[in-house]
This record gives sequence, C-alpha cells and structure tokens, in this order.
Amino acid sequence: MIIKILGSAAGGGFPQWNCNCPMCHGVRQRTIKATPRTQSSIAVTSDQTDWVLFNTSPDILTQIQQCGVLQPARQLRDTGIRSIVLLDAQIDHTTGLLMLREHKQPLSIWCTAAVREDLSEGNPLFKVLTHYCDIDWHEIQTDANEYAIPGAESVSFQPLPLISNAPPYSPHRDQPVAGDTIGMYMQDSESGASAFYAPGLGEMEEPVWQAMQQASVVLSDGTMWTDDEMIQRGASAKTARSMGHLPQSGPGGMLEWLEKLPDSTRKILIHINNTNPILDEDSAERAELVRRGVEVAYDGMEIEV
Ligand code: MLT
Ligand code: MN
Ligand code: ZN
Repeated sequence: MIIKILGSAAGGGFPQWNCNCPMCHGVRQRTIKATPRTQSSIAVTSDQTDWVLFNTSPDILTQIQQCGVLQPARQLRDTGIRSIVLLDAQIDHTTGLLMLREHKQPLSIWCTAAVREDLSEGNPLFKVLTHYCDIDWHEIQTDANEYAIPGAESVSFQPLPLISNAPPYSPHRDQPVAGDTIGMYMQDSESGASAFYAPGLGEMEEPVWQAMQQASVVLSDGTMWTDDEMIQRGASAKTARSMGHLPQSGPGGMLEWLEKLPDSTRKILIHINNTNPILDEDSAERAELVRRGVEVAYDGMEIEV
C-alpha cells in the first residue's frame, strides 16, 4: 500500500491564519527554515487509482489539487476517493465533508456510532449533507474487528479505540467514551507490512502499544512538544493532554514510547500544531528527533508500506 500525507498539521494549519507565534510568524516571514502545512489528513491506496481518505480536512480542496492522483478523470464528474474514514468528529477532521457535497453518489463514510452521533447532533454535518449528496454510513465498531474498506483492496483495517478527547461541542468533551477517537492498524496482504495511524493519542494503553510494536510504520500524534506549549506562548489556556494529545517531550511523552520501538520501525510524527518547535528544521528539538531517528510528516510525503 501507499500512504500519501495530504495534510500534516493539526487544527489551524501552519501558519494559522491569526497566529503570530514564533513558528507561524517565522514561516510567514521566511525567517525560519520551515514548510507550510495543511490540516490533518492522509489517503491510502493499493492500486494508485482508488483511495481511502482518512479524515476530511477543511483544506481538502487544496489537498486534492495538490495530489493529482486523487482525480483520475475517467468521466465528467469523477474522484479517486472511494471511501472516507473519520477517526474522530473534530472540526479539522470533518469540515471538508461539506466541500465534497457535489459527489454523484452518497459519500461512503466509515466511522463509529459515537462519531456519527456527534456529526448528527452537536455538529449536524450528516444532516446537512442529506440535502446534497447524502451519506452512506458504515459503522466501525471498536472491538477487534477487521474491515475491508473499498479503495484499498489489499489492506485489512483494524480500528483501535484511543483515549483522547471528544470535540469541544460534544456532550462527551472531557468524559470520552469508546469510539470518540480511534486509531487504525492497516496491514497489506501483498507486502505483509503494516502501518499504525493515530493523529489523536492522549494516553498509551496496552492494545495501542501492541499495535505500534507490530507496525512497520508508526504515524503518531505529533501535536505538541510540551504539554503547556500553547500556555507558554500565550496562545491558549489549553494543555496538550487536556485536548487529548500526548506531548512528545518529558517523562511518559511520545518520544519515550517511540524510543522503545524496534530500530526497524519507521517512526513519523503527524498532526503537528503550529506552535510546535519541531516545525523549525534548525531547532534543537528537530535535531533531537533526527538523533532519535524520528521523522516529521510533511504534505505530499509518500510512504510505501
Ligand atoms: C484536536 O486535535 O484536538 C482538535 O482538532 C483541535 C481543534 O479543534 O482545532
Ligand atoms: Mn486535530
Ligand atoms: Zn502559531
């Protein structure tokens, strides 16, 4: 399978429209070595024609334009996107559904019942879409089921419930329930290799750790370097952990976990918040990642699994 990184930034993108933190200001003014990034999404294929889209970013139209293979142009109205998987109901992962409303058939959407509820009640995108192309919902259950999802025929998809947080508008905010956020373990039957993808991971639990140890490629939550990064910058009162994101540095942080993975595992941080100093390629934090063999995802990155 091929994984294409469509958007590697967290909510807000990089630079964020209203932000003048050192990273956003620096990339805008070109005073730091950094590349702009769109909001969180990946696409997976096994034949380079049909794709499974993971999350639908507010930047989806730009991402489709930047990734020509998503438009195979076989007929007047066409797309390479066969299925859409939503790993949570957050704004940065779902708003782009409205941009896909011209689809000829109902959008084939795979998500948990908890995500469907949030997208029907708190943020009723699914109801709005009934007035356009409508949706065809496929339930993802959070037990150990494996799914075949049209668009990546050689891949088996195994969801894992994650401890993170539900969106601010959700009745489950700060009281997460199973299915608010999932990660996905994907195994390719042709190559035998596998990937684990979790852009929102707040706490490491045993089943998640098992999946990460099995995966050939780990694409894991790279939102913030330190828990209080946005507070230190004066950008927000929220900590990374309160938003459901494990920070990279410090005791129990993501880097400690990644360090324990086998040397052969490809380790890539994704869903990077614009305040995160790893975005600056000359920063000490980025140098530490290089030392540890941890990569930073960028838009357009292609990963063969
Ligand atoms: C998150 O990942 O925690 C959310 O996407 C934050 C947001 O809504 O911008
Ligand atoms: Mn997010
Ligand atoms: Zn910023």
